[in-house]
Amino acid sequence: MQVRSGNEIREQFLRFFETKGHRRVHSSSLVPANDPTLLFTNAGMNQFKDLFLGAERRDYSRATTSQKCVRAGGKHNDLENVGFTRRHHTFFEMLGNFSFGDYFKREAIQYAWELLTSKEWFGIDPAKLYVTIFEGDASVPRDSEAYQYWLEVGVPEERIFELGVKDNFWAMGETGPCGPCSEIYYDFGREAAEDPSVDKPFPEDEQRYVEIWNLVFMQFDRAGDGTLTPLPKPSIDTGMGLERISCVLQGKLSNYESDLFVPLIRRVAQLANAKLTVNDLEGGLAEALAVADLDVAASMRIIADHSRAATFLISDGVLPANEGRGYVLRKIIRRAIRHGRFLEQTEPFLFQIDRKSVV
Ligand code: SER
Repeated sequence: MQVRSGNEIREQFLRFFETKGHRRVHSSSLVPANDPTLLFTNAGMNQFKDLFLGAERRDYSRATTSQKCVRAGGKHNDLENVGFTRRHHTFFEMLGNFSFGDYFKREAIQYAWELLTSKEWFGIDPAKLYVTIFEGDASVPRDSEAYQYWLEVGVPEERIFELGVKDNFWAMGETGPCGPCSEIYYDFGREAAEDPSVDKPFPEDEQRYVEIWNLVFMQFDRAGDGTLTPLPKPSIDTGMGLERISCVLQGKLSNYESDLFVPLIRRVAQLANAKLTVNDLEGGLAEALAVADLDVAASMRIIADHSRAATFLISDGVLPANEGRGYVLRKIIRRAIRHGRFLEQTEPFLFQIDRKSVV
């Protein structure tokens, strides 16, 4: 199959859900509207929070989006991981499908499995996939329904794992809509393992087995004291990182080797007098990054990532400041500049990290 670009993958996702009766809705701003509980938009469901809570109605009950997200502050914060893993970002796009009291677990699972495995869509080999369900705790029972629906679509029982609250109960923040979730993982193979000489089973190796899609079964509204109140209508909120699925479908081991990042990494190398030159990169980014000094590679990833976050935050109206959102943006910019210094860049350069300017 021809390799798809990140843009084509985004479009395919949205189109798939349109064929299932979902309304394509535009991404909301990174600055949440009317929600003091959130620093930045951190998930596709944020703009639909009031629909889940039953406080708002719209003329559609199914939606699909590609949502701009920043996870660099608040409950979901990946800032310190960025640069040192293959798949964390401060800014990323979350592909999602949503049901507001319309379909629930069975259809959410059927749709996800069809999109991922059907040859007409993403065509991923099911032997590369694992799924997880919520094992239950004192307040919410084991998700035996999700277990049953995964079996129905053909996932063998030895590929369905039960995990606890940390992995399989999703909440937007300390309060608000939440519920058990079911995650789909992709096996990148021994090549990607923490130690490639050891064949660890799922879910023991976080480098090798990577979560690509989270299906949240929104059932509760959590109050400040932790009490869970059932939502008026159970709903669906799913999220799949465009950068991760692009890495999978483009046959790469790192999001930074997908077409969403390669032009930026090349630009960093070109501008920042990196020990890694653009010519080295022509031979293959993976090989070049593998031979590069580890710190150099991390700095290049950090600059590429942070330039995207800074660009999208500024375009949504955030400016560097001493507090709140503006302070987080300032931290992101400073971190990028610091890593530019490591790459011997002494002139202002961040404003030139632009995929179009690679010659
Ligand atoms: N809200 C869930 C998440 O962020 C699914 O979209 O993972």
